[in-house]
Amino acid sequence: MRLHVANHPLITHKLTVLRDKSTPSSVFRSLATELVTLLAYEATRDVRVEEVTIETPVTTTKGVMLSQPRPLVVPILRAGLGMLDGMVTLLPSAEVGFLGMVRDEETLQPATYAERLPDDLTGRQCFVLDPMLATGGSLIAAVDFLVKRGATDVTCVCLLGAPEGVTAVEAATEGKSVTLVLGALDERLNEHGYIVPGLGDAGDRLYGTV
Ligand code: PRP
Ligand code: URA
Repeated sequence: MRLHVANHPLITHKLTVLRDKSTPSSVFRSLATELVTLLAYEATRDVRVEEVTIETPVTTTKGVMLSQPRPLVVPILRAGLGMLDGMVTLLPSAEVGFLGMVRDEETLQPATYAERLPDDLTGRQCFVLDPMLATGGSLIAAVDFLVKRGATDVTCVCLLGAPEGVTAVEAATEGKSVTLVLGALDERLNEHGYIVPGLGDAGDRLYGTV
């Protein structure tokens, strides 16, 4: 697994406001969108392109365009939905698929309650969106889902990650082409499986259920 942790003052600034418990949902949602757009720059570094020839008003020149098949963006519901707009702003031609997952608050095991993905992902580049990588259970299940459908190239974009989750994803995806892009690598998980210092429950903060 390739790991990229953002190291940019603008990202750290926005994450600081996002973490602040007094930040209201409306601001939280805008910040999540802005952060994803910044992280998408790194996440799409290896997006597949093909060479094209175009006419500028002055001359003929070579350039590149995103190649087929189109990339697939997969937000993990619910919280990952808060990252979708930011990602498709940069990748407007991407197709979007959905995975709904919820973590049992006692066992911390993920359960999948919704799936709307293309049946065949052979040759597709996939971008999974979930703001929080805690134990890693949800992300591992999501990557597994995509790989079983034929995806060979999966990039996961998370706003915050815990070291425990990063280690778990790395072990579970050994031998697969998986990239993880994080806004920040936090300190640890607490006894309830929450990221520390973290930002609390991302879904609740996005959708005002706090
Ligand atoms: C959160 C988060 C991840 C998961 C991370 O979702 O958005 O999907 O927990 O935890 P893990 O790494 O230990 O699996 P949650 O289950 O709270 O659902 P929600 O998005 O509907 O709020
Ligand atoms: N899910 C969240 O929303 N936050 C955490 O800290 C861990 C899992």
